[in-house]
Order: sequence, then C-alpha cells, then structure tokens
Amino acid sequence: MQKPCYILGIESSCDDTAAAILENDVVLSNVIAKQEIHIEYGGVVPELASRAHQINIIPVVEMALKKAGIEKKQLNAIAYTRGPGLLGSLLIGSSFSKSLSMGLKIPLIEVNHMHGHILCHFIDNKQSKPEFPFLGITVSGGHTQIVMVEDYFTMNEIGGSLDDAIGEAFDKCGKAMGFDYPAGPIIDKYSKNGNPKKFKFPIPKVKDLDFSFSGFKTSVLNFINKNVILDQNFIEKNVEDLCASIQYTLIEILMLKIELATKKTGITQIAIGGGVAANSELRKRLNHEGKKNNWKTYIPNINYTTDNAAMIGLVGYLKYKNSHLGNLKQKALSNYKI
Ligand code: KG4
Ligand code: ZN
Repeated sequence: MQKPCYILGIESSCDDTAAAILENDVVLSNVIAKQEIHIEYGGVVPELASRAHQINIIPVVEMALKKAGIEKKQLNAIAYTRGPGLLGSLLIGSSFSKSLSMGLKIPLIEVNHMHGHILCHFIDNKQSKPEFPFLGITVSGGHTQIVMVEDYFTMNEIGGSLDDAIGEAFDKCGKAMGFDYPAGPIIDKYSKNGNPKKFKFPIPKVKDLDFSFSGFKTSVLNFINKNVILDQNFIEKNVEDLCASIQYTLIEILMLKIELATKKTGITQIAIGGGVAANSELRKRLNHEGKKNNWKTYIPNINYTTDNAAMIGLVGYLKYKNSHLGNLKQKALSNYKI
C-alpha cells in the first residue's frame, strides 16, 4: 500500500485566503476565508487584499490542520501559489510558506495557480479523470485560456483573451446592473428564470482561438445606459431576461471557441476550470455539446472551481511524487506563464 503523504496547500493569489490538507490526492480539509471588504468597492482592492491575507493566513492554516486531524509535524511538504496574481497577495502566501517550510524542515513546492485550476480534476481517486492530451479551458476573473495539456507538467496556451477575462465580463456587466462583486454567481441565479434570447448582444469576431470580451462588455453597458435613460426602472423590470441574455452570449462565445479548438487540434477531451466553471449554463452547455459532438467533458466539483487551496495541494502532491521540489530563492510572480 502507498505510504500516506500529507501536503499543506496555500492559496493567496487574489482575494481568497485558502489552505487545504491532502493525503496523497484526497482532500482532508479545504478552508477558504473570503474577503468581504471588497464588496463595498465593487472589485478587489489590492492593498486591502494583502492586509486581509496577513490577518487570515494563520487562522486559515490552523483550521485546515484541525479539520484534517493532522499535526504540523506530520506534513511532508508545503505547496503554495507562486503566481500569477496580485503581487502583494502572493507575497503573503509565499513568505508564510517559506517560513513554515524552514521551521518544519520540509520541502517547499511552488505552484502555478492556473495549473491548479486545470489539474483540479485529478483531486480524489473516485471520479473519472481526463486522459492526456486534453484541452484545459480556464475561465476565471483573470483568465480565459485554451490550454493544450500534454501531461501534468507540460502545458501550452493555444488561445487566450486579448483584453478582459470572461469572469471580468460577468462582473462588469453585473456592476452595471447594480450587483455586488463578484457578480458572476448573481447573474447565474437571476438567469434561471430569464429568457436568454430576449436581448441580443454581439459575438466578437476574433481570429483563431483567441477571445475578446471588452467590446461585448461595452455594448452591454451602452445598451443598459440607453434604456435606463428611457425608463429608469428598465433594469428592475428586465433583470432576469438581461442576466439570461448576457450569460447566454458569454457562454456561446466560449463554446464556439471550444468547438473550433477541437477541430484545430483533433482533441476531444475537454476539462473546464476556474471560477466561471461554477456557472450553471456553462456546465449544462458543455454536457450537451459534449454528447452532441462525441467529446469527453470534465466538469469539476463545484468546491474546486473558484479559488481554493485543494487544487494547489493536488499539484503539490503530483510535483512531490515526481521530485519537482522548489526552493527558498523562488520569487512570487505576478505574471507567471502557464
Ligand atoms: O477562479 P476565481 O475564483 O478567481 C480568479 O482566479 O480569478 O474566479 C472568480 C470569477 C469571478 O469573476 C466570478 O464572478 C466568477 O469567477 N464566477 C462566476 C460564477 N461563480 C464565480 N461566473 C459566472 N457564474 C458563476 N456561477
Ligand atoms: Zn483562480
């Protein structure tokens, strides 16, 4: 039998302070402290995020250990998010991880946050897992990428956003309707009772496998502003149809590119990851298109879609098993290519 290996995963790339304990690829605990402070500003304020990470990191790690029933001295390694993300936020997680690894005299493992989103499908033994090569689709507040995943550690971005990320488009359209940050889940909720074909928004024409969401966002904002001038209750009266139409178009843009990527690469295994992978319309459409086109689709457990440390711990476990250890000299990287 395989000897248990205990990994502490730490995630602090944006506004969530998270810690998880894994026993091999099985998650024993997954703790996240969400930072409410950003709601009143309508988006993440980097300086406030760093300060909140500093307050949250120790209690979050202690809670993850307690929930897992593991003591610090049982840990085999610490895996932390090195980047990409907000530098001040990354520095808290990386400095904490370095200090703890020095104190406990155990290996430190650096993890690319996007690898975490892509490889979250390999958490736990039970569910079916993507086979290599597969297309990893990262859809979050900071990224929209199509990634060719050759193996756990060999990945190539073959398409990405030229401007805003899809999650950002959800958040900014939501802000225009007066929703709190993050607006993605709120749009998802209202869409359930709305008509997705009521309002027509443009599908951007972008070459190859790249994306653009800023023109879409501007057209939604202009449409809303124009109609609010004519009727100040326009949003209230149409909120469900507006949300459903915005959501439908954003997911349509993504699905068209996924379809193109399968044609260009001949790869029909598709695995989505990142906060927008929690979106109910995306989950439904991917299942539907998968059946129609004979793709094998992988939709992560909802707990591992938005930022979490379980996915960082999982990559840490894979790297530990393959002796891909990090070192104390490695700097946090706000831009960290996949
Ligand atoms: O992966 P994530 O937690 O953080 C980044 O790495 O960016 O993604 C956050 C993004 C936000 O833009 C949020 O609005 C979006 O994911 N999101 C959703 C849903 N849940 C989270 N977007 C649409 N529908 C959802 N249900
Ligand atoms: Zn993320």
